[in-house]
Amino acid sequence: MSGRRVRIPDFRQKKLAGEKIAVLTAYDATMARLFDRAGIDVILVGDSLGTVILGRPDTLTVTLDAMTHHTDAVARGTERALVVTDMPFLSYQVSVEEAVRNAGRFLQSGASAVKLEGGKPVLDAVRRLVDVGIPVMGHLGLQPQSVHQLGGYVRQAVEPRSAAVVVEDAVALEQAGAFAIVLEAIPAEVARTVTNRVSVPTIGIGSGPDCDGQVLVSYDMLGLFEGPVPSFVKQYANLGATIAAAARAYADDVRSGAYPPARTPVSQA
Ligand code: KIV
Repeated sequence: MSGRRVRIPDFRQKKLAGEKIAVLTAYDATMARLFDRAGIDVILVGDSLGTVILGRPDTLTVTLDAMTHHTDAVARGTERALVVTDMPFLSYQVSVEEAVRNAGRFLQSGASAVKLEGGKPVLDAVRRLVDVGIPVMGHLGLQPQSVHQLGGYVRQAVEPRSAAVVVEDAVALEQAGAFAIVLEAIPAEVARTVTNRVSVPTIGIGSGPDCDGQVLVSYDMLGLFEGPVPSFVKQYANLGATIAAAARAYADDVRSGAYPPARTPVSQA
C-alpha cells in the first residue's frame, strides 16, 4: 500500500503479509490531508461526527446529508488513503433498497466504501451492497447506534454466549462479502479468535493488540475532545491545550494592540 491509492483487494493481502492497518477518523479536508500524508491507510468519516464535531450526546441524530457533506470534504483532502463513510442510524436498517440508495450517495460524494453496524440483521444489506459494487466494512461488538438497547457504552462479548455470537457474526459478514470488520470494545481473546477465524482484516478499537489493524477517533487521540474519552485511547498529542493557548495569546495581543503590528506586511503567503 505504498505510494498509490489504497484499494479493497489490498486488505486481504495485508492480512496475509501480517502488515497492520492504521485507521483514523476525519471529518474535514485539512485533517484528512494531514493523515493522508502521514501514511494512514484508511480515513473513516465516522458518525462519531455527532459527538466530536456536532456536540451531541450520541451518534443517533447524525443525518445522511451531514455524512455526505463531510465525506465530500474528506475525499478532497485525500490522495492515498481509502475513504470509508459510516452509514448513519436509519440509513440502512429500514430496507435493503434504502441501504443501496444511501450508500450510493456516499460513493458519489467521494468515499470508496461504507461501514455499517451489526451482524445477522444487516447481512441482506451487506450482500446487496457488495453485489452492486459498494464495498462494506462491518462493525461488531459495541455498536454505538444501539446505545439504548445496550444500556450504555459498555464492553461487549464478555459472556461466552455473546462472544460466540460475535465470532458467528464475523464469519457471516465475511461470507456476505465484507472486506474488513471493526471490532469495538470486546475482550482481546475474543478479538483474537475472530481474527484467526476470518480471512478479511479485523480493525480493533478497545479490543486488544491482536487485530489486523487499529482505529481511533482522531479527536480523542489528538487531545481535542473534552468529553469522556475511553480508557484504551492513547493520547498522542494535546492539541486542545495548544489551540486554547494560541487563542488566548491572540486575544491578549488584539486587546493590548500588539497584533497587528503598526506596519503589517502586505504580501499574502
Ligand atoms: O464513528 C466512528 O468514529 C466509529 C469508530 C469508533 C470505529 O465508528
